[in-house]
Amino acid sequence: MKVSVKDSKETAFSCDVLILPLLENQGIRPYRDIDNALGGLPGKTMSSKEFSGRYGEMSLLHTQGRIKPERVLLVGLGKKEDITPDKLRQAGGKAASFVRSLGASHAGLSTRTIGPLHISPAVFLEGCLLSDYRFEKYRKEENRKGLKGITVLTGKDIGKQIKWMMAVAKATYLTRDLVNTPSNDMTPSGLVRAARSLKKVSVKVIERKQAEALGMGAYISVAKGSMEPPKFIVITYKGKNSAPIALVGKAITFDSGGISLKPSEGMEKMKYDMAGGAAVLGVLHAAAEMNLPVHIIAVIPATENLPGGSASKPGDVVRSLDGKTIEIISTDAEGRLVLADAISYVKKFRPSAIIDIATLTGACSIAFGNEAIAMMGNDDSLMAIMKKASEETSEHAWQMPLFDGYKDYIKSDIADLKNSGGRTGSLISSAYFLKEFAGDVPWVHLDIAGTAWTDKDKPYIPKGATGIGVRLLLKFLENYK
Ligand code: BES
Ligand code: MN
Ligand code: ZN
Repeated sequence: MKVSVKDSKETAFSCDVLILPLLENQGIRPYRDIDNALGGLPGKTMSSKEFSGRYGEMSLLHTQGRIKPERVLLVGLGKKEDITPDKLRQAGGKAASFVRSLGASHAGLSTRTIGPLHISPAVFLEGCLLSDYRFEKYRKEENRKGLKGITVLTGKDIGKQIKWMMAVAKATYLTRDLVNTPSNDMTPSGLVRAARSLKKVSVKVIERKQAEALGMGAYISVAKGSMEPPKFIVITYKGKNSAPIALVGKAITFDSGGISLKPSEGMEKMKYDMAGGAAVLGVLHAAAEMNLPVHIIAVIPATENLPGGSASKPGDVVRSLDGKTIEIISTDAEGRLVLADAISYVKKFRPSAIIDIATLTGACSIAFGNEAIAMMGNDDSLMAIMKKASEETSEHAWQMPLFDGYKDYIKSDIADLKNSGGRTGSLISSAYFLKEFAGDVPWVHLDIAGTAWTDKDKPYIPKGATGIGVRLLLKFLENYK
């Protein structure tokens, strides 16, 4: 979809649909010119109680050649004082979906109402773009009747905001594509290809043999059951000379559970167990496009988790990169094994902070459903920056406590740690396990198991991979100094 800006009157702009956001009870007065040109139709619609501008209401009017737009879509935003950025984003998503369902291809967006709101019109547009995503690459015929273009009607210079928003939307599309792609095509090698196609970054890949030689026993133990070569991907983006910030993304391209096999029902969804790694790739894509002044070291430990003749078995003990031994209680608690070595590895670069993002626990989605990321960490000020970014993007992150008592959950009888503390409290005990590896480096863990996938369409997230984490981490990087 193309986004452009034009300083034009609504009535003089040729398009299939003019999107006209309106406030509740504002009446048609601010749009007197449009109302007059249409013989009072919009005003009549508003007094008919069919549409009064309440949040979520929409009404379509045909203009019959009286003004340049063929149709006008009235979009209710509710009361001025109740509008939030996310409500505006959602309204954009719903309006774009409606316009698309009409088969229309070019829309204009009036900014008379949203212009003076102190929220950029780019937020409404962001909703339009994010909702327009479709994953069609496995269909014989692409049945896209998507929007081709949207033009913002304003005299203000909002080019910069739009450019930023487009970069964020593109990055989200990339992440969604990577996650939606089935595991036979999105292997660890597939992720390497995605990494190598990024601009302005350097990519290094540690192969199985090298990882073994380096002592990444925890990571390698997960890869043992699979014939697919694991890839430990290290990406550097240096937009600024400073201590790097480390981003670590879990990338299990398929999580069968290994010998601790998962039930078959719903197992097809475990292709999304690389959503953390995919989010990190999306972030790097946008960082490069926007020339973000940050120094990022990203680590994506990628592998499949399969049962096989040489797979790890429950009861096995492995030695992690930092020397701690781990008793594998469940081969299905593989995420923390690959993350442990990734966190230890990235510490060698002396990062100022480590952020890991992972579809780590089923318990996360039990606790939060599809609505929030579980956040834990060892540094309150770092978590405060993340919290603020989450409020600004509405990619909600909610903090859970890492009380010392959780240490007992992961005590092993024969090794330094065990990889599973059982079902109760597992959202937190899994994070506590990672904390043991982060040590004294400021660290935040984001569990996106509940939010990385949605089974139903949302206003600006079509069902499937959500691309969660991309907008949150980009905002975090923008705010992090
Ligand atoms: N990838 C799963 C977590 C998951 C579950 C993500 C559902 C998305 C949706 C993770 O590797 C896992 O299997 N975790 C286990 C850990 C348990 C064995 C301690 C879990 O949460 O059940
Ligand atoms: Mn698992
Ligand atoms: Zn997993």
